[in-house]
Amino acid sequence: MQHEFFIPCAPGLEKTLFREVKELKLPRAEQQVGGVRFMGSMREAWLANLQLRTAVRVLLRLARFPCTSDGELYQAAREIDWSPYLAPNGSFFVDAQVRDSTLTHSQFVAQRTKDGIADEFRKRTGQRPSVAKEDADLRVHVHLSRDRATISVDTSGDSLHKRGWRRYQGYAPLSEILAAAMVLNSNWDRRSPLIDPFCGSGTILIEAILLACNCPAGAFRQFGFQSWPGYAKQGFEQLRDKLLADIQVPRKLRILGGDQDGLHLGGLRDNLQSLASIPQLAEWLDRVDLSSGDALDFELRPGWGATILSNLPYGKRIGEADEVADLHVALGAKLRAEASGYQLGLLLGDKRLAHSLALPRWDAQNWQNGALRCQLVTAQVP
Ligand SMILES: C[S@@+](CC[C@H](N)C(=O)[O-])C[C@H]1O[C@@H](n2cnc3c(N)ncnc32)[C@H](O)[C@@H]1O
Repeated sequence: MQHEFFIPCAPGLEKTLFREVKELKLPRAEQQVGGVRFMGSMREAWLANLQLRTAVRVLLRLARFPCTSDGELYQAAREIDWSPYLAPNGSFFVDAQVRDSTLTHSQFVAQRTKDGIADEFRKRTGQRPSVAKEDADLRVHVHLSRDRATISVDTSGDSLHKRGWRRYQGYAPLSEILAAAMVLNSNWDRRSPLIDPFCGSGTILIEAILLACNCPAGAFRQFGFQSWPGYAKQGFEQLRDKLLADIQVPRKLRILGGDQDGLHLGGLRDNLQSLASIPQLAEWLDRVDLSSGDALDFELRPGWGATILSNLPYGKRIGEADEVADLHVALGAKLRAEASGYQLGLLLGDKRLAHSLALPRWDAQNWQNGALRCQLVTAQVP
């Protein structure tokens, strides 16, 4: 059966997500504001959930209709056949986003949709599913924009940035999605050395390892559709096993990390340890070179042709701004002196900081890191 899917992403990542979707050959893909749409079967939704690194979730659209009253919303929710997605004794949660519409309260929109679903179940089965915010069997999403409503079910469950490998958060960990987007937008060839001298909990390094080893982004987690009554367990597990069998660890790839805070490096090792639930990846715990110390002292070998991918300190707290600006100036000087020929992908909190690096040529993309704006600066050191 064919469905329409929408894959939302973080602001600024639409192009990157679209490239990923094209590479996966998801049918009739179209880049839209805030994400990518495609048409396909549940098998393609499994693939999207398992493989896409810059998707936030994969939504299956069930209904689109003009909507100016809660009655229309309630009626539309009653007309949907929910039986493939929710058992009468299951649990569900509805969330809503409302913009430029006659109905203005997202909570009310969510509540009326919830009423429609619950009443329809009671009428058909005599039972009504319960409402649970945490760990619901089904997440329903309502998007109301300019009086057009879309009701979708979330095939992913938890946001896809929750890859399932993280044991340690650290201080200001980067979202796994942004880390993967950094790797995908860098010129790293996935064979030459990769360095993060501000590695913290290791998000960039781990996402880079998974990419270089062709390991599915979702290999360590469960998905929402696995709790649905219509879940075709055998088919999904076959697909997942086939993708896991395609994991290939590049023999000579070197991954290096540094941080001035040794506590983060311990946490990074915990994160690396969880990769071992996939036996081919177990060796990474011993293969990542970690050193504790100032990034300005990190040894950059001349002629190594390495790639540096880092999420630098933002300095958003009072009193930190000057310190962070000085760090960027000093790092720029070090890179120009020691990293000739290296590729760079640096996620910075502020465009002025990119100028502080004083690189002769660089490109910048505007992204959003949670509530903070940020820039990915890419360059080759001359
Ligand atoms: C924004 S965090 C990076 C977070 C990391 N990407 C992650 O996902 O966990 C910046 C990191 O830089 C480290 N740091 C700050 N100044 C440093 C310096 N001069 N040398 C080395 N590490 C530094 C901090 O300890 C922190 O872990």
